[in-house]
Amino acid sequence: GNTEGIVIAIDGPSGSGKSSTARGVARSRGLRYLDTGAMYRAVTWWMLDRNVDVGDTAAVAERAWLPELDMGTDPASPAVRVDGADVAHAIRSPEVTARVSAVSAVPAVRERLVSQQRDLIAEAQRAVGGIVVEGRDITTVVAPDAAVKIYLTASAEARAQRRGNETQAQDLAATQAELLQRDLLDSNRADSPLTRTEDALELETSGFTLDEVIAIVVGLADEATGER
Ligand code: DC
Repeated sequence: GNTEGIVIAIDGPSGSGKSSTARGVARSRGLRYLDTGAMYRAVTWWMLDRNVDVGDTAAVAERAWLPELDMGTDPASPAVRVDGADVAHAIRSPEVTARVSAVSAVPAVRERLVSQQRDLIAEAQRAVGGIVVEGRDITTVVAPDAAVKIYLTASAEARAQRRGNETQAQDLAATQAELLQRDLLDSNRADSPLTRTEDALELETSGFTLDEVIAIVVGLADEATGER
């Protein structure tokens, strides 16, 4: 592992609270923050914007390296730019959400984004002493040597409730069905599926507030850096 800066890796299914937790921890400890799901969403947005048939694996693979992706890692304002355009809002659309699992299953897309993620991690370690990274394959593939590795979960009901609040969805049953469908795809793809490893600490967050979960992870991070 890199001793210059701490890496806190958080994986988990949709709506488990990864983004809010990771951002809160980064803000609390002056670290950078990387939402890797936003990177898969940004590539998906680009493919849809250019009318690429995202069901066509070869067509997606061929274009995997074309979108120029610029990720901001400040937890106070995590920017997402594709070819210079601010897509932070557009990547949360139902269209992108419905297609992102297909695009993220394409190995060329993963290869490209994992390499960019490792560069951003190394830069944060040099610049500010560390980074909190969240996604589906951070503890397993992107940063398996991370000092803190967490698998965040919550009940399907709690996750649907959170996503419903974020998207202002009226139909929670439909939100839950979509979320479970995406989890199934993300957990069963061939390349880097969502999995919990033995050495990742599982945090079931259904009964906790966001601030409580942040405090737990901050405690683990302080222990790992010997600050306490
Ligand atoms: O965290 P999110 O819901 O914004 O992620 C969107 C999708 O991106 C998710 O359904 C699967 C994919 N993803 C991935 O394959 N690997 C990651 N490290 C992060 C996200």
